[in-house]
Amino acid sequence: MRVLVLGSGGREHALARALHRDPAVTALHCAPGNPGTAEIAANHAIDMLNPTGVVELAQRLTVDLVVVGPEAPLVAGVADAVREAGIACFGPDKAAARIEGSKAFAKEIMEAAGVPTARARVCESAAEAEAALAEFGAPYVVKDDGLAAGKGVVVTEDMAEALSHAAACGRVVIEEYLDGPEVSLFALCDGQDAVPLVPAQDFKRAYDGGAGPNTGGMGAYTPLPWAPPGLVDEIMETVVRPTVNELRRRETPYVGVLYAGLALTSRGVRVIEFNARFGDPETQVVLDRLATPLGGLLQACALGGLAADQELSWHLGAAVTVVVAAENYPASPAKGDVITGLDEANAVQDAHVLHAGTALDGDGRLVSAGGRVLSVVGSGADLAAARAAAYEAVDKIRLRGSHHRGDIALDAAKG
Ligand code: AMP
Ligand code: GLY
Repeated sequence: MRVLVLGSGGREHALARALHRDPAVTALHCAPGNPGTAEIAANHAIDMLNPTGVVELAQRLTVDLVVVGPEAPLVAGVADAVREAGIACFGPDKAAARIEGSKAFAKEIMEAAGVPTARARVCESAAEAEAALAEFGAPYVVKDDGLAAGKGVVVTEDMAEALSHAAACGRVVIEEYLDGPEVSLFALCDGQDAVPLVPAQDFKRAYDGGAGPNTGGMGAYTPLPWAPPGLVDEIMETVVRPTVNELRRRETPYVGVLYAGLALTSRGVRVIEFNARFGDPETQVVLDRLATPLGGLLQACALGGLAADQELSWHLGAAVTVVVAAENYPASPAKGDVITGLDEANAVQDAHVLHAGTALDGDGRLVSAGGRVLSVVGSGADLAAARAAAYEAVDKIRLRGSHHRGDIALDAAKG
């Protein structure tokens, strides 16, 4: 099987690494990829948001499968174009990707499918926003309706801040606050059936203890020793299958990974959001534990042969990832700083470094090129061992001004 992965982050490096391990994958390409994927795949510098350019590349490389990493190409219709060209594609069509691209559409699907989520109002004016905020009360949750790369959500006790975010966004979704721990569950879907991966937890805030601004994600771990038994089955029955069925009923079948971001509230499981792609950095830990070859699974989704009762196999033990972020991430990340210590970090037992926002400069040196620069993964018999491996590797890395959280998976490891 010849595979092309679209994207350039830590998630795509993790996908490429898992595909590289699959003996059925005979050729591996990334576009645009990053210096980490270049070590295991051929990188191609194209604009992944241009459907015609992606199709031309896939045809030239005679790939059997295109795997779309980020949401932007999905929303731009890249999966539609690849499938129209007769090439199998892992990733939903533009119409189904609206589940992530429009929060209002996601709410409409959940309502139609009876999926539990926060009560919400779509607001187009300041007056509507004010009324909705008053209705739900504090803490206030205000979400930009469109794609905002993780920056569209404000959760605040301050009515003025909530109103000013609503005014800045235009069309917003205002919803009730959900308490309780968050869980990310990814389900592989072939339009008809869905198979869950293991659940993970992400750390969204920039600093230890959940302080600081929201980010794309500063770390993740799996498994969740604290999760109630039967949680995955419950999410599949109450959230994933009804959503997949509703999208198929609307003749926009969902092919790819459906990412359910959930809150386990005192009143039960509630959907916070759907994404139309793998989560970053949760993918880095989930794929680290996946023993079933990834290429065949993604191809089964793309071609429609996934059986709902397919049992995946998993490595025992745990995985933890710690994101090394650039100076001033998330506000205005510094770029172009030299990164050293990667070989030492990769030499740490049970640890490896995934590239997320890196580039090679004119002199061939590895430099930072994004807010989240590296995603360092540790594995072990349990979360404590996986944390120890990840943090030992993080300590080997040198990047001026960088920061990372010190408490990824700490509470879960303590039990
Ligand atoms: P989202 O972009 O929808 O994932 O939101 C980003 C983060 O904001 C989530 O991971 C939650 O931590 C928080 N959040 C979003 N919606 C809610 C809600 N209704 N109640 C509480 N927190 C929320
Ligand atoms: N880790 C959060 C996300 O991928 O959206």
